[in-house]
Amino acid sequence: MSEHDLQLRGYDAIEYLVGNAHQAAHYYRTAFGFRLMAYAGPETGVRDRASYVLDQGGIRLVLTAGLHPDHPAVRHQARHGDAIRDVAFRVPDAARAFALATERGAQPLQEPRVLRDDHGELVVAAIAVYGDTIHSLVQRDDYHGVYLPGYEPVPEDPLASAAPPVGLTGIDHVVANVHLGEMDAWSAFYERILGFSELRHFDDEAISTEYTALMSKVLWDGNGRIKLPINEPAIGRKRSQIEEYLEANDGPGVQHLALATDDIVATVRALTARGVRFLEVPATYYEEARERVGSVEEAWEDLAELGILVDRDEEGYLLQLFTQPVQDRPTVFYELIQRHGARGFGVGNFRSLFEAIERAQSARGNL
Ligand code: FE2
Repeated sequence: MSEHDLQLRGYDAIEYLVGNAHQAAHYYRTAFGFRLMAYAGPETGVRDRASYVLDQGGIRLVLTAGLHPDHPAVRHQARHGDAIRDVAFRVPDAARAFALATERGAQPLQEPRVLRDDHGELVVAAIAVYGDTIHSLVQRDDYHGVYLPGYEPVPEDPLASAAPPVGLTGIDHVVANVHLGEMDAWSAFYERILGFSELRHFDDEAISTEYTALMSKVLWDGNGRIKLPINEPAIGRKRSQIEEYLEANDGPGVQHLALATDDIVATVRALTARGVRFLEVPATYYEEARERVGSVEEAWEDLAELGILVDRDEEGYLLQLFTQPVQDRPTVFYELIQRHGARGFGVGNFRSLFEAIERAQSARGNL
């Protein structure tokens, strides 16, 4: 660690701005197995919005809806649909991290602010990044409340034991979609301003199908706690999935969250039983994959039954699977990932994956 290091310690929370937080919270609990932890709204003295805090295996999601037409969350939702607004990071010193980031050119969004209640104090600042996305910088070492002042704990979530647990353990990576020609600028932003470095990059040769071409760079914090791939569309024969996203989201934003599990077979079985819908791969995928990947601990019959994808790199292999978009617009979706040593992102699966995405895109009349 140097004096120039922002000391990002990992994700603090992912905040969505949605049209109906009450119902979105129900969805993430029943479909994805999150537990309702805390709530802020008129009943807790917060007059203008309702926010639900959900948690699972250290992943914290916050779902917020504005309660009057001029509320910024309502305007955000009108423009982008239900979307991720904030990828918040934990820091030991928010004022210092904010000062370093803004001195190097990050756009300030919120000056460091001290929030206090009976449970202690926190410092929160924020910078703007791609689209309307922000990174809050949250210093909470001296805070012992459930989330933030204004939130009250929910002691027992009756839905928590309603179905078998899903077993998500953390956030593996958070992927952004930006406009054509903007990937290098954003990757330079994360390197120069937040001190990230480039872990991988994939050009459009590696990632192309008949219809889709995209380029991607993976930025990381150097220790694996934060990995942020950034995609931009490349010229394809038809409209790529990245362009479909940019249109539906009305600009850049978070495309998918990859959530980690230690047992992807059990996780996907639980999610499927809870009604989550995944992209389907053709059965022929597994003939090719067995040859390409070699031996794995899991039974190939289970992987094929559930449509789980497999890829191998120099360090091991990984298993992954992608959901359909989880809101009305074809924007945010989820990846489930289990790593057996591999540190990559499943480049060997990109072609079959994109072909599956294109079948879904075509069904929406957008290809
Ligand atoms: Fe991913």
